[in-house]
Amino acid sequence: MSSLGIIGGTGLTSLNGLEILRREVAYTPYGEPSGFLTFSRLAGREIVFLPRHGYAHTIPPHRVNYRANIWALKSINVTRIVAIAAVGGIRGDMHPGWLAFPDQIIDYTHGREHSYFESGTERIEHVDFSHPYDDSLRKHLIASSAHAQLRYVANGTYGATQGPRLETIAEIKRMERDGCDMVGMTGMPEAALAREQNLAYACCAVITNRAAGKGSEDIHSEIEQHLKHGMEQVRKLLLALIESE
Ligand code: HPA
Repeated sequence: MSSLGIIGGTGLTSLNGLEILRREVAYTPYGEPSGFLTFSRLAGREIVFLPRHGYAHTIPPHRVNYRANIWALKSINVTRIVAIAAVGGIRGDMHPGWLAFPDQIIDYTHGREHSYFESGTERIEHVDFSHPYDDSLRKHLIASSAHAQLRYVANGTYGATQGPRLETIAEIKRMERDGCDMVGMTGMPEAALAREQNLAYACCAVITNRAAGKGSEDIHSEIEQHLKHGMEQVRKLLLALIESE
């Protein structure tokens, strides 16, 4: 079986408890990925880990080389990617500290390299993105969360904003009217690039705060309060996911 790729988000620059097998620098036609690939073993299965913001968390959401990251994982025969991403909760049931498994996306980002199909490329493909996440991998994540007795929300629309700043209250109100249930800065173009490369990609969102205007006035301390616990939930989820295969 091919290895599982994990793209770590804010708060997840390493996966404790993993047996590290080797580290590999990947070269891609799109430039440098966010860091070397870490090949690890968990419950007898190979996992390849890549931290989206770099190992020292120095790459902001609008500067991540999403094309290089997806390409690097594909080049070492990863066929499935679990993308971990911190989000703010918009819908009332998106509680900080819980996980969420979005099933839809609205993209508000701009100016990012968002496709492998550029002018001059041999062919252009308009990939079907009606269902942006891989249904089977998403369901597998949900079942594993239930099995591990984690607290999670099984659906929702992910609104991808440009960042790196947080949103205004009016922007969140607009996103809510649009139908967004959670907000994050890195979900796009990552998901679309994975689809262009025909990879099974699903998102495990970690709700770290209520979005602007939806909860505490101090979003940063809310994020700080919930990030660590949220990432511990992610580790439990990944273990349950691997053990169930
Ligand atoms: N907005 C955007 N991205 C985020 C948030 C938020 O409130 N929380 C964590 N990532």
